[in-house]
Amino acid sequence: MSARLVVLVSGAGTNLQALLDAGADPAYGAQVVAVGADRIGSAAVARASAAGVPTFELPISAYADRDAWDQSLCDQVAAHEPDLVVSAGFMKLAGQAFLSRFGGRYVNTHPALLPAFPGMHAPQDALDHGVKVTGATLFFVDAGVDSGPIVAQVAVGVEDGDTTETLHGRIKSAERVMLVEWVGRLVRNGYLIEGRKVTVL
Ligand code: GAR
Repeated sequence: MSARLVVLVSGAGTNLQALLDAGADPAYGAQVVAVGADRIGSAAVARASAAGVPTFELPISAYADRDAWDQSLCDQVAAHEPDLVVSAGFMKLAGQAFLSRFGGRYVNTHPALLPAFPGMHAPQDALDHGVKVTGATLFFVDAGVDSGPIVAQVAVGVEDGDTTETLHGRIKSAERVMLVEWVGRLVRNGYLIEGRKVTVL
């Protein structure tokens, strides 16, 4: 039976689309069973709806405080009984309730080679720093900002004349492939997290 993925999104949803496409093949071993967003009307949620996947939208402004939002996110995700929760361009930090329920089975993809350039503007930060190589990182989310144990990374060269858009575009092409490959490996093979070290079995 396929593993159940709940994917959290905020924007374009190209990483989500890659997971939706991969899951169409039963041999992949994982299917997106629900998609959640922190805003109304994202392109990512439209992609999920087009694929017939249930969605939920939880704008933080609709809640009394961040803890109430976090609890609601936790409840909505839990209702879909995920084996793995995947943050794919989800521009919010999950809180304590969410992490205590899904810690160890919540991964995030980030457009830099962590621990370099955590945060919301990684491709711009990499360009500003003048690095020659950056990339993307898949990691298990912990209570810090982009600080959890690393599952996989892919390197992408910075080219002369790159803008944030051209660099992020090439990162995203490599990131999608990495995400699909390693989410598949995690759910098909199982994994161990020992301290900072992730081993896919
Ligand atoms: C991806 O590059 C993802 O790594 C990044 O947003 C993009 C989402 O693209 N996430 C972050 O920067 C999180 N800090 P998508 O909506 O097309 O999948």
